[in-house]
Amino acid sequence: MLSSLLVVPITILAVVIIISKIIINGGVGLGVGVGGRHHENLPPGSFGWPIIGETLSLLRAGWDGTPERFIRERVERHGGGGGRSSGVFKTSLLGDSMVVFCGVAGNKFLFGNENKAVAVWWPKSVEKLFGTSLLTARGEEAKWMRKMLHSFLNPDAFSRLYINTMDSVTHTHISAHWQGKEEVKVYQTVKLYTFELACRLFMSLEDPQHIKKLGSQFNIFLKGVIQLPFNVPGTRFHSAVRAAAAIRKDLLAITRQRRVALQQRTASPSQDLLSHLLVSCDESGRSLTESEIVNNILTLLFAGHDTSSVSITLLMKTLAEMPQVYDKILQEHMDIAASKGAEELLQWDDIQKMRYSWNVVCEVMRLTPPITGAFREALVDFTYAGYTIPKGWKLYWTPFSTNKDPNYFSNPTEFDASRFEGAGPTPFSYVPFGGGPRMCLGKEFARLEILIFLHNVVKRFKWNLLIPDEKFEYDPMPTPVKGLPISLQPHKV
Ligand code: HEM
Repeated sequence: MLSSLLVVPITILAVVIIISKIIINGGVGLGVGVGGRHHENLPPGSFGWPIIGETLSLLRAGWDGTPERFIRERVERHGGGGGRSSGVFKTSLLGDSMVVFCGVAGNKFLFGNENKAVAVWWPKSVEKLFGTSLLTARGEEAKWMRKMLHSFLNPDAFSRLYINTMDSVTHTHISAHWQGKEEVKVYQTVKLYTFELACRLFMSLEDPQHIKKLGSQFNIFLKGVIQLPFNVPGTRFHSAVRAAAAIRKDLLAITRQRRVALQQRTASPSQDLLSHLLVSCDESGRSLTESEIVNNILTLLFAGHDTSSVSITLLMKTLAEMPQVYDKILQEHMDIAASKGAEELLQWDDIQKMRYSWNVVCEVMRLTPPITGAFREALVDFTYAGYTIPKGWKLYWTPFSTNKDPNYFSNPTEFDASRFEGAGPTPFSYVPFGGGPRMCLGKEFARLEILIFLHNVVKRFKWNLLIPDEKFEYDPMPTPVKGLPISLQPHKV
């Protein structure tokens, strides 16, 4: 019965993939390197079904809320009958021959070989939607763009310039969307928060109507980012292309107004990301063009929106489930609040005191990494663990290959925030933010946004889950199917 139900979707998926591969790459090929060369000594593994490969198994594991199952089953199956676990297997996903690198050694190899043997790679839909931006740039260009964006996203800039703003935006958000409410859907409400915060810190946008309009376009855009790139009416990708055009038009207008305001000295060069990007240049005097600025703001909105929202949602769930962890966190934040005046905003020193809270966040992200992995492309033929990896093949790393490995985390399924005390986990075993030269550029931003939100929410409320066993589906990030509704109980004063 199940297999007959699957025939139609599999056939549709296969046809869609074949057509897309023909349109995009001029063909499909399995076990064949770039230029049609056949390779021997490939890593163990299976290409699965013709054309669709093992895409459905991966999707099914995500729908079941257990994406790690796809990795675990294959590592066990292809680990080598002689007991040798290669930590690498081949598969075929979305029509591409792909090698999945597992374990600490696999992560270390991919993160350590950027721009040498491998380079960042994204599906075609991403390239088409983002244009020239950090996300799609490689080599020297990527290094340069990271440097330009880092002038805004580094801890020093935050400690001096932005923590107060983050705290006051969070305060306003909680008063508007949490205070006085008996029930809140955490996921949807937190998405609003992270978007408001980004609009304020990136572009000083404050008008709720403007943010709402931009936010609704942005949500359409997000749904089309990882899709087959058919720009045909009715597809998610087509809607995303249209939404991206509308967002770009808006961002470009904001950028041009700001340039004028900077010239007239009615805006400050350090007031937000946009000002930073407009005034920054490298040693040779090169600065980002207007369209590069717009594309990179879009990139940061994309990279930082669902990731942070999902992390906060998972944190809220964990704290509702573990009263002893909630109590310890509450104590930490009440101590910080007691050391300040009632109206005084958070400072850098206060954030440094939130050690236990950050360890809890790290443990939440270890157990459920918000991002299931990222891609690379082999720049040359190379050998890894004794196998040939052909040039042009796509490569994949995932935090799920190490996050619950008992070799690195004792009692791996148990929640234990103390793992992050002292030196913390073995290098390359805990990688929710990736690693190496393409490691998440917004890690510090995310840390502050999560901790400042936590401070403001925990100080005011305790909460209960209204659907205790609510399912999380990977779409592609772990998302509560009903939005994680909670009941709020304000603290008695
Ligand atoms: C908890 C929240 C977050 C998580 C778990 C996360 C995780 C990641 C991961 C796994 C990558 C891919 C690294 C790779 O390709 O190897 C990444 C890239 C990136 N992230 Fe984050 N991220 C988060 C929040 C943010 C925020 C808030 C921003 C921006 C304000 C941001 C900006 C970026 C950028 C720009 C990249 C691309 C870097 C590059 O390609 O050089 N992220 N992130």
